Amino acid sequence: MSSAPADLERYQKETAGLSASALLEWGAREFAGAITFASSLGAEDQVITWMIASKALTIPVFTLDTGRMFGESYELMAATESELGVRIDPYFPDAAAVEGMVRKEGINLFYESVEKRKRCCHVRKVEPLRRALAGKQAWITGMRRSQSVTRADLSSVEWDAGNGLYKLNPLLEWSEEEVWKVVGDHGIPYNKLHDKGFRSIGCAPCTRAVQPGEDARAGRWWWENPEHKECGLHVDEESEAARPAVQVSQLKL
Ligand code: ADX
Ligand code: SF4
Repeated sequence: MSSAPADLERYQKETAGLSASALLEWGAREFAGAITFASSLGAEDQVITWMIASKALTIPVFTLDTGRMFGESYELMAATESELGVRIDPYFPDAAAVEGMVRKEGINLFYESVEKRKRCCHVRKVEPLRRALAGKQAWITGMRRSQSVTRADLSSVEWDAGNGLYKLNPLLEWSEEEVWKVVGDHGIPYNKLHDKGFRSIGCAPCTRAVQPGEDARAGRWWWENPEHKECGLHVDEESEAARPAVQVSQLKL
């Protein structure tokens, strides 16, 4: 873990009040050649990919292909390439690590405990993220503040101590309605899972559609308590490990 560098305060002042696309332009300039965008292939991320494409920003887009993604997500990767001209680079987990984990603990270990779920996320997402971020000074995410209790305190420019680089959250203050308005107005290709009631896109065995009135991320790891629903991409695993263990509620599959 590294402490926040002196530049953070200056960056936050410089970018205060910038629109999402202006923040992306600022990031592309400030961290030229050393900035990257992480896409989960959800609607927020498609808006950012579209902004990058329409402003021709030199920001590569990647996705962590866990090997457990929905078919609809691969279809969206193809549509994004043909309609927006953006190839989304995949980062796969280490093959030996996945083989070892599945041989020892089974293909669906994540339903058994929070600890096992986080182990799977570590192997399939967190370690590949480290590789995707190697050599970079900043990364971009599609997180919004209203998505979850775990996202209430984020800033649009922050220091990611766990990974040792800056993190930009250009859509932080956007509502879900604003995201969909931009998608509709500009014909941005989106994940067809959203038409089936999915409001957040993740791995197939760990994500389901939500009912009207349910929380946007209620369909992610629905058997866990809301305050633990982060996969290690956005919370530091060391500080998470210090939290008390939680009971996994009754599985409803
Ligand atoms: S998370 O718990 O899976 O991280 P969420 O799906 O809300 O939460 O994603 C938040 C942001 O994390 C996305 O906008 C994206 O920037 C990044 N992200 C999540 N999953 C992936 C993935 N599989 N590949 C790349 N980036 C991802
Ligand atoms: Fe594994 Fe589920 Fe995490 Fe995907 S979301 S990496 S399948 S535990």
